[in-house]
Amino acid sequence: MKALVTGGAGFIGSHTADALLARGYDVRVLDSLEEPVHQGGQIPGYLDPKIEFIHGDVCDQTVLLEALQGCDVVYHFAAFQDYLPIFSRFFLVNAVSTASIFELIVREGLPIKKVVVASSQAAMGEGLYKDAQGKTALPDIRSHEQLKSGEWDIRPPAGFAGPMQYQHSDEIVSNPQNPYGLSKISQESITMQMGRRYGIPSVAMRYSIVQGPRQSVHNAYSGACRIFSLSFHEGRDPSIYEDGQQVRDFVNIEDVVAANILVMEGDRANFNVFNVGGDKAITVSEFAETVASVFGRNDFESVPCGKFRFGDTRHIRSDVSKLKALGWSPQRDTRYSVEAYREWLSGTESLGEILKHAEAQMEKLNVVQSVGAS
Ligand SMILES: NC(=O)c1ccc[n+]([C@@H]2O[C@H](COP(=O)([O-])OP(=O)(O)OC[C@H]3O[C@@H](n4cnc5c(N)ncnc54)[C@H](O)[C@@H]3O)[C@@H](O)[C@H]2O)c1
Repeated sequence: MKALVTGGAGFIGSHTADALLARGYDVRVLDSLEEPVHQGGQIPGYLDPKIEFIHGDVCDQTVLLEALQGCDVVYHFAAFQDYLPIFSRFFLVNAVSTASIFELIVREGLPIKKVVVASSQAAMGEGLYKDAQGKTALPDIRSHEQLKSGEWDIRPPAGFAGPMQYQHSDEIVSNPQNPYGLSKISQESITMQMGRRYGIPSVAMRYSIVQGPRQSVHNAYSGACRIFSLSFHEGRDPSIYEDGQQVRDFVNIEDVVAANILVMEGDRANFNVFNVGGDKAITVSEFAETVASVFGRNDFESVPCGKFRFGDTRHIRSDVSKLKALGWSPQRDTRYSVEAYREWLSGTESLGEILKHAEAQMEKLNVVQSVGAS
């Protein structure tokens, strides 16, 4: 059996490729080695030399066809993930490339037995809420005006009675609020509809926030584990946005890989979208304290820095019961993930002032803003 892993030089792709090799698959990776994830466009040292590597862009159908030929299964992980306002690129790289995979399979009659695509919790945006009377709502993004006034919780939409309480969001929830989330929901729909229509077994994985080694220290999009770990590594306290009480859902990379393999083998997952999350709520402050403790900073106290990131969700937690019904469950907690990430960071050369540059970039893009400032 041969597997194609697009984006296989990245974090989730490379770990999945290793698991496939361990199971006896031949593995081919198609990756364009994008900056800033891959500094200098170099093949990362962790990529197993047994992998056949094609340097190319998933938006190029000629290269994509070359990569698909001779493969039995496809994992589509290549993606544009950024805060940059290049809206069309999200759809081009994340959604159009997915349509191309199905187009080429159908046009060329390729005998692909399974397509697994990487969706995201971002497809659910602020997720599902209930108001004081138990009425369900899919709230919109919080406004600038609200956040600038330092009011963090979701306001009741018109016709709803507060306070609003977040729920565990299942796969039916679709409420994307940024171009990335929109492109991911499109990718899911393309995968489900084209898969069913042409009888190509297909699965979409809605990952929550994945944590573990190889998560690029340069990726502006990758979240709290990288930022908090780098802060403590550089000897300073991380910035805690809002009030630190935002609920997050982190999942370990080894659990993600187990899910990726599970849905590929057998038929039970076919033509379904699955949430892949940690099955545990943790606040940003609690997570910062976990990271502090792993870095030996037992004196750390989580204090809000008076800023917020416009577009962040207030709370989000995935309901993973659908995937659990297939026999999967998350086995590793956030401490395990942070310890593994710390160990990996210690082997990474010249971390320099990555965080300072990343923060400056986020302020320049107006993503990070101060409460009360005009
Ligand atoms: N890491 C997370 O927490 C998370 C959460 C939800 C969803 N996802 C999704 O999982 C997938 C993998 O994410 P990751 O964290 O491993 O990201 P990553 O940045 O580590 O890896 C992505 C890889 O894709 C490659 N790539 C980007 N654009 C490409 C293109 N046009 N052609 C070919 N290759 C290209 C990059 O060079 C990189 O190696 C993505 O689709 C992402 O949207 C990740």
